[in-house]
Amino acid sequence: MAALWRFWRRCRLQAPSSISNRNRNLLYVIVLFPLLLMFLLIPGGEIANYKYVGDTAKDVFLTTFGHDGDGSDDVIRGTRSVENKVVLLWTGFFESRAWRETSDPFKTCPVSNCEISLDKRRVEEVDAVMFNARALALNDDTELPEHPPWQVWILHNSEPPYYIFLHLRRFNNVFNWTSWYRADADIFSPYGDYVEKGGYYDYSDSEDGEGARVPLPNNASDDRNDVVDSDSEAVQSETNTTGEVDEDVYRLHDRIIFFASSNCRDPGRRYKKVAQLKQYLPIDEFGDCGKYQCPKDNDQCERTFARYQFVLAFENGYCRDYITEKLWNAYRRLQIPIVSGGADYQKFAIPGSYIDYDNFSNVENLAAHIHRVSTNPEIYNSYFAWRKYYDVIHAPVADWCQICDSLNDKGRKPQVYKDLEGWVAQDSCPLYTQYQVFWTQVYLGIFKMLGF
Ligand SMILES: *[C@@H]1O[C@H](CO)[C@@H](O)[C@H](O)[C@H]1NC(C)=O
Ligand SMILES: *[C@@H]1O[C@H](CO)[C@@H](O)[C@H](O)[C@H]1NC(C)=O
Ligand SMILES: *[C@@H]1O[C@H](CO)[C@@H](O)[C@H](O)[C@H]1NC(C)=O
Ligand SMILES: *[C@@H]1O[C@H](CO)[C@@H](O)[C@H](O)[C@H]1NC(C)=O
Repeated sequence: MAALWRFWRRCRLQAPSSISNRNRNLLYVIVLFPLLLMFLLIPGGEIANYKYVGDTAKDVFLTTFGHDGDGSDDVIRGTRSVENKVVLLWTGFFESRAWRETSDPFKTCPVSNCEISLDKRRVEEVDAVMFNARALALNDDTELPEHPPWQVWILHNSEPPYYIFLHLRRFNNVFNWTSWYRADADIFSPYGDYVEKGGYYDYSDSEDGEGARVPLPNNASDDRNDVVDSDSEAVQSETNTTGEVDEDVYRLHDRIIFFASSNCRDPGRRYKKVAQLKQYLPIDEFGDCGKYQCPKDNDQCERTFARYQFVLAFENGYCRDYITEKLWNAYRRLQIPIVSGGADYQKFAIPGSYIDYDNFSNVENLAAHIHRVSTNPEIYNSYFAWRKYYDVIHAPVADWCQICDSLNDKGRKPQVYKDLEGWVAQDSCPLYTQYQVFWTQVYLGIFKMLGF
């Protein structure tokens, strides 16, 4: 602020004296007003005005159609064989062309008579068409195919509302199901999950599943990729098939806390929290805003990260049910995550496995607690008691098993999101307003013109 004021004073002093005072003020208004206007309207300025209607009232955003459970969709589909359900991926995934699962993510599902197709020529015969919200936003004018009534269109999204960038209103009455990080989505697709030991779908076995996960290209700059995917050593040490768990996790680490992030400013104000905590504890910061850069080579990066006792798994916003891979990667590295976010961690995270930033009345108390855990092997190891009972699973980007299951569910009523934006806004995080979407489009346009 002070710097701005000095700059302002300098401008005033240097303005040509031939301009009269009145004209000079007019000049300032002409130059500054549009700047001010733009500042107010750019992302982060304004909050969309939506009422939160609560968990049970999702129906207000939907139109539900009549024919339920009588197999009439089969009738509509006429002679087409319905033995195998086909899911066509219409868009790419984020900026990249490829979704992580391309051929058979259904292999190990309880209901597995589904297949993935990338062949758009099959659009008239497939059972479901899948769209990724970011990919769609990047090509907002994408032409959409015909939509036969028996076909399910699924909108997949893994980003909080303020990173969706899609002109949502344009897609009212288009999508039948949502695949989202929110538990109230039709297909709940969280970033990770855990199950009781023994009983789970082993994605890591399937060739195209998470186990053989192909990292996204480096130019895919979404927040989801800022922590390198941990399919390397730490994962393997955790998934020893002998069934025995090494109970002394404490000795695996020789450093204390790290934080990795690619964006410096976000609604969750992570950097503020980190700075406060840093007054009490040493924290190594990786990424664009940190002191250290993570080497491009994933394995090396992972090995470095795995040395730390704790990771700051702060989400970039307090969004409903929004827990990203930051938490799940911590488990795979056998670290204690220090969490902060809008999800109910008691519901979604592993019991007794984490420290909740927002559970402490002040940062000093939190730091004291961390210090105690960090210096006492017994307490530290107690955070990993869950390993005897649970396994962290490699969650796919979308819950393919649930998709296949739902596609086979004849009792499911046909439905469509008549107010998609309304549903998306049922979050504890703000949505982009149309102004913000507009300005984002303008900026993207300018960047494109300048050749970025
Ligand atoms: C990302 O990089 C790949 C290969 O370098 C390129 O083909 C692709 O167009 C890039 N994507 C974007 C969104 O820049
Ligand atoms: C996993 O198994 C290997 C060899 O079988 C062993 O050396 C290693 O200590 C085990 N790790 C854990 C965490 O149990
Ligand atoms: C949160 O605080 C409550 C009460 O102080 C405590 O019982 C609980 O264990 C804390 N949870 C975590 C994750 O620290
Ligand atoms: C999907 O939505 C469309 C409206 O665009 C509707 O005609 C169709 O019946 C719905 N299909 C299913 C399977 O829900």
